Amino acid sequence: MAYNKENYRRIRAAYQTKYLKAHEEADRRMAELHAKSPAIAAIDRELAMAGAEIAMAALGTGKEYKEKLAAVKEKNLALQRERAILLKNLGYPADYTLPPYECELCQDSGFVGTKMCECMRRELVLAAYEESGLGELMKTQSFESFSLDYYKADPVEAEKMQKNLEILHTYAENFDTGADNLILLGDTGLGKTHLSTAVARRVIDRGFDVYYTGAIAMFADFEHARFGTGLGEQMADPARYVDCDLLILDDLGTEVTNQFTNSCLYMVLDQRINLRRPTIINTNLTGKEIRARYTDRIASRILGVFKPLLFVGTDVRRQKLMK
Ligand SMILES: Nc1ncnc2c1ncn2[C@@H]1O[C@H](COP(=O)(O)OP(=O)(O)OP(=O)(O)O)[C@@H](O)[C@H]1O
Ligand SMILES: [Mg+2]
Ligand SMILES: [Zn+2]
Repeated sequence: MAYNKENYRRIRAAYQTKYLKAHEEADRRMAELHAKSPAIAAIDRELAMAGAEIAMAALGTGKEYKEKLAAVKEKNLALQRERAILLKNLGYPADYTLPPYECELCQDSGFVGTKMCECMRRELVLAAYEESGLGELMKTQSFESFSLDYYKADPVEAEKMQKNLEILHTYAENFDTGADNLILLGDTGLGKTHLSTAVARRVIDRGFDVYYTGAIAMFADFEHARFGTGLGEQMADPARYVDCDLLILDDLGTEVTNQFTNSCLYMVLDQRINLRRPTIINTNLTGKEIRARYTDRIASRILGVFKPLLFVGTDVRRQKLMK
């Protein structure tokens, strides 16, 4: 597991605040109740004493202590019963002065023992979805919504696409640092973005930090970082491209390639390869076109290190429009 560090810090801090708030609220309610009911205030004082007595008695051994322990325990229960009745008569719920935790399981600590509570894991995953750059794509493009029917016209193509689907599914289920680098090659509308989004979602669910970007947006971010120009607003820190566990670089080849974009691309790929952080590239370019377009240092990395998956068939975008 390698949750995005910034998200983790932020969510841990939010849990601490949540926990403190629940306790402050319990204190506030206790004070309110005591002001309203001196009888309950008196019982709560006695309960606090009884609690201390139980703790003391439990330290001792022998028959005498055992009897004493049983007696204070009995007194304690009697006080609690009395308190419950008073509380009910005043019209309060039975748990009124307990801290109102959002999650009873971890009492808003985010952990059950040493294990992360499901509620915190869910928050981390939601934050990761939010920051993955996938946005709306994530809602519709999943393994479940990917149909092999669109490739049926040609049995060879259908088989090839079934294999791609299986490979990507297995990849997502087993993803870890050091997983393969992949390049999804093929014409427009064949499901490259769709399946890489499905992979991203599954890998995020499994607790990894995934970043999805279009090539144009990535180069714009680098340009912005270097020259302070660009479209503003949603500019990402270029370190994000190297830091994430899985980078999905979509539509490589749609950018205007120049020396600057070449150096950025080289830097990102080279660092990620050295750090054994996997990347998935999607492109309409062929291997030959990659060689022609990029420097040798880039092309040899892409063609030598990335495992190619060729997408085939008839433009699914068009098939869907025709229906
Ligand atoms: N096998 C499939 N089952 C269901 N929907 C699909 C399938 N393949 C593609 N689609 C849908 O068709 C549209 C185009 O697919 P996608 O964006 O994945 O193509 P692409 O290969 O990335 O194309 P491009 O090269 O133009 O980026 C999307 O809306 C996608 O959800
Ligand atoms: Mg695409
Ligand atoms: Zn919890």
